[in-house]
Amino acid sequence: MWSILEKLDNQMKRTARYGHRFRSTKALTIALHERDEHTRHHCDRVVMLAEALGRALGISKFDMDELRLCARFHDVGKIGIPDAILLKESRFDDQEWEFMKTHSEKGERIIKATTLPGADKIAKVIRHHHENYDGSGYPDGLRAEAIPFLSQIVALVDAYDAMRSVRPYRQARSKDEVMSILDSESGWKFAPAIFEKFPAIVEKLSPRYS
Ligand SMILES: [Fe+2]
Repeated sequence: MWSILEKLDNQMKRTARYGHRFRSTKALTIALHERDEHTRHHCDRVVMLAEALGRALGISKFDMDELRLCARFHDVGKIGIPDAILLKESRFDDQEWEFMKTHSEKGERIIKATTLPGADKIAKVIRHHHENYDGSGYPDGLRAEAIPFLSQIVALVDAYDAMRSVRPYRQARSKDEVMSILDSESGWKFAPAIFEKFPAIVEKLSPRYS
């Protein structure tokens, strides 16, 4: 009897937490959509891929919930990037690129300012979603296991989707081309143990997306 009550209590707490998360994130999702439709759609696909990769890596239900939010809002800092850079139809110059790179820290600040349960952890994952496995990424040059695990998952699926998408300055790359690039980056940009689960996920994607 006690365990049933305890279960019910936990379930109610979880429902309340998710309800709060939904309300807190709804405004951010709308803000992201208003800012730039491409970023919003990119984030939708990153959530779908991150869930599949997280499942293949056997992460816990709790981490999965965090992962969905990290994936959805990994680029929320782009709200603070001016149109002249965000919507530029040619490649960035060095100064523009340096400014674009600040979106991960801007995203961290935006999420930290919310009342989202677990905001600090989600903000940290967002800060580090462009770190590389060998320490050559940004903003802090973290290496290997020092990079939050969820950031490493988001980094890989983000790179896949970014290369598969059409951008104003280039065509979308084919699935095979992207997988071959990612394979060559496994070990320096991405953790090999995470990348090795990814080809099977891409194989299972619907032909419309993959
Ligand atoms: Fe990003």
